[in-house]
Amino acid sequence: MSIRLRLLLSYTAMLLITVILFVAAVFLIAVAVTGDVRHVRDLYTSRYAVMPLTEPEETVSVETKFLGKSDPEQLLDAAFLRELEQRLAPVQAGILVRKGSEIHHATPMLQVPGMKAALPPYEFGNLHVRDILETEGRFFSYVKFDLHFADKTEGGVYVMKEVSPYAELTRSLLPVLILFLLLMLALMNGLLNFLVSRSIIRPLYRLKTATEQIRDGELDFHIEQSGRDEIGQLSQAFEDMRKKLKESVELQLQYEENRKELISNISHDLKTPITSILGYVEGIRDGVADTPEKLEKYLDTIARKAKGMDQLIDELFLFSRLDLGKLPFTFERLDIGRFLEDYVSELRFDLEEKNVTVEFERQGSAVSAAPSTPPALVLADRDKLRRVLANVVDNSLKYNDKPEKRISFSLQVDTGQVRIEISDNGPGIDPRAMPNIFDRFYRAEQSRSTDTGGSGLGLAIAKQIVDEHRGTIKASSIAGEGTAILITLPRVEGAEA
Ligand SMILES: Nc1ncnc2c1ncn2[C@@H]1O[C@H](COP(=O)(O)OP(=O)(O)O)[C@@H](O)[C@H]1O
Ligand SMILES: [Mg+2]
Repeated sequence: MSIRLRLLLSYTAMLLITVILFVAAVFLIAVAVTGDVRHVRDLYTSRYAVMPLTEPEETVSVETKFLGKSDPEQLLDAAFLRELEQRLAPVQAGILVRKGSEIHHATPMLQVPGMKAALPPYEFGNLHVRDILETEGRFFSYVKFDLHFADKTEGGVYVMKEVSPYAELTRSLLPVLILFLLLMLALMNGLLNFLVSRSIIRPLYRLKTATEQIRDGELDFHIEQSGRDEIGQLSQAFEDMRKKLKESVELQLQYEENRKELISNISHDLKTPITSILGYVEGIRDGVADTPEKLEKYLDTIARKAKGMDQLIDELFLFSRLDLGKLPFTFERLDIGRFLEDYVSELRFDLEEKNVTVEFERQGSAVSAAPSTPPALVLADRDKLRRVLANVVDNSLKYNDKPEKRISFSLQVDTGQVRIEISDNGPGIDPRAMPNIFDRFYRAEQSRSTDTGGSGLGLAIAKQIVDEHRGTIKASSIAGEGTAILITLPRVEGAEA
């Protein structure tokens, strides 16, 4: 059974029970009040009949009834009737005597137009002695006694008083009112059902549609939230789930894309040198290298290409081990100032003949060599950190097109971290390439020629290592003036290990 139907049934049942209880209560009260009502219908029709008469009405009607049987002529005596009227006056009742079709006597308050026509006809046996009559919108309740006068004309004597028209109106309209009430209940039922189904069923249907969409792999939509109630919370949870799912699917796609690109790049970077090696080998075989000098040159090239490939495979291997988190790091407390000084003096020695200036500056403390300067300690893997510096320096040398090459190191020690900046006077990096240079295999120059660049893994490896040190690595560059690579590493407290 659907929730909609269940709600409808429960509302209907609720209303029915209410109505039944209401009717039962009314019936019980009626029985309790009147003592002898066997049907609710009786209560309704005999409402006036059971309404007790006032004392004067009671006695006057009993007396007139007695006279009607024993001495009807006395009911035509005006003096006697006036005396009865006086007794009835305190309860606003009067007396009316009908003889034949004429009104023989009526208390002034009963002398209203149409009264004669409204009087009930003579009734043998006097069964219906109490009722209400209406004339021109006014209502009168009466107790009557029908009789025969001495001259055999039929007549009647009425003890009568005016009643509120509203009571009578209510009495006549009661069935309509009850019908109206039932109609209202039914309408209410419909309205409640509509409102509830709007707030429960509709959002549920929306969720159902959403689930079907998700099942079919469609994730680009928005699940509308309906209010803050339980259904609203459910919708919100669904929406969150959809977002998470979408994110994870997109991430998956991104991974897939990366993997494809990686394979294509590796294939390309391995294929190119192999092809040329094969070319040179072929040349030697075919006797193109017919002089010892040529042969030497061919073999040189083959060796160079093979070395490049070896290097590429090494880098690839290193990168993939870093990527998989399989490369062990041996961290130690390192005085970064001394470490850099050592590295720079080594580098200076290596590059002396190549006309490259190597500078080192420790910012914020010109007296860096003074023994009082506390060492700036970082937790680092010595060899891996050298690898980072080597990769950066390698780029600075490789891409530098100036005759006077310069590489400047600077170290700045802050409270919580150290900042190492390595800048060169090279050509700088195209701003469009800037966001990608730390990506694996990315090279600003897209031809992937081995003559103008490396594997595109150098900075990616550097970033992996710096990340492992919980540091950051960034690049800034001015076109034509140079590039600066900024590395930050967190400082640690305590003595050097
Ligand atoms: N000092 C630099 N000067 C100019 N361009 C640089 C410099 N460092 C890096 N780049 C650019 O960033 C790209 C990525 O560097 P890297 O990851 O080391 O790969 P590659 O193997 O090409 O050197 C390089 O291809 C180069 O275009
Ligand atoms: Mg490089």
